[in-house]
Amino acid sequence: MTAPIRENLSGLDLRAEIDRLRKERNAVILAHYYQKPEIQDLADFVGDSLELSRKAADTDADVIAFCGVKFMAETAKILSPEKIVILPDMDAGCSLEDSCPPEQFKRFREAHPDHIALTYINCSAAVKALSDVIVTSSSAETIISQIPESQPIIFGPDRHLGGYLNRKFGREMLLWPGVCIVHEAFSETELIKLKAQHPGAPVAAHPECPPHIVDHADYVGSTSGILQFAKSFPGDTLIVATEPHIIHQMELALPEKTFIGAPGADGNCNCNICPYMALNTMEKLYIALRDLEPRIEMEEGLRLAARKSLDRMLEMASGTIGKGDLGQR
Ligand code: 13P
Ligand code: SF4
Repeated sequence: MTAPIRENLSGLDLRAEIDRLRKERNAVILAHYYQKPEIQDLADFVGDSLELSRKAADTDADVIAFCGVKFMAETAKILSPEKIVILPDMDAGCSLEDSCPPEQFKRFREAHPDHIALTYINCSAAVKALSDVIVTSSSAETIISQIPESQPIIFGPDRHLGGYLNRKFGREMLLWPGVCIVHEAFSETELIKLKAQHPGAPVAAHPECPPHIVDHADYVGSTSGILQFAKSFPGDTLIVATEPHIIHQMELALPEKTFIGAPGADGNCNCNICPYMALNTMEKLYIALRDLEPRIEMEEGLRLAARKSLDRMLEMASGTIGKGDLGQR
């Protein structure tokens, strides 16, 4: 697993050092909503997977410090090959990516030659290279609605997002059997108990949740969609069924409202912290900016092959402005 930090950084003002290095390196710090609050607070931009891809494609910076997981930093490198892309901890993976080894995915594709491959962005560059179109949870609806109903589709690696889209659009996409370990851990029994304690509080859920959680949701959407919903729902309490670090943005925007993370089987919401996202720390971000390591490197043939399906997503999602999403149920 991750190598421990061997140097003593205790005397350093990490925030000031990160600010100094960001200027010196002409770096942009991009952070996902699932990052620790201190990292979200110093980032130049915080967003969902689609918004972060767009920022990575557009930035003028020389260095992209990606505070998220590896497939996100790889996406930044695919879209901005001339830039140095650093990830504070190279072990920040994703259970969805792990569930989908490229060789097996290739065989799955070959077994269904008449199908196109619509693939969730939470996968390796090699799986992107084997795909026709990439989607994020905020672009999936816009993109699916542009594909003729007669066109058979395989969807991977998230069977819950794929199943949700199948139900919503009446499609029969063949699903790869991957799951997000974080969203899989919510408990329906505990959620029902929590709803009873807060009568009238709506539930906002990410579509990576299994159907027994999504079925209790008033709103289903990407992280940016959930954030948008939190800013517009009329009540004072919201139950949030996604990784709980997003609640930081809700509390910043709406300090007068109450946001409660949906619980896991022990009744506690902390079991839903993404262990991969949590590997990034202030210390590791500081070292990454100082040393410009660990760095994402990619063989050019693979990058170009992966870029095709990502470019198709960016074109097909062009009407999707972050919030444009799976939406109200
Ligand atoms: P979005 O931010 O695109 O909704 O993705 C959620 C997620 O699980 C990222 O790993
Ligand atoms: Fe992967 Fe789930 Fe963590 Fe997102 S929250 S990075 S999908 S394990």
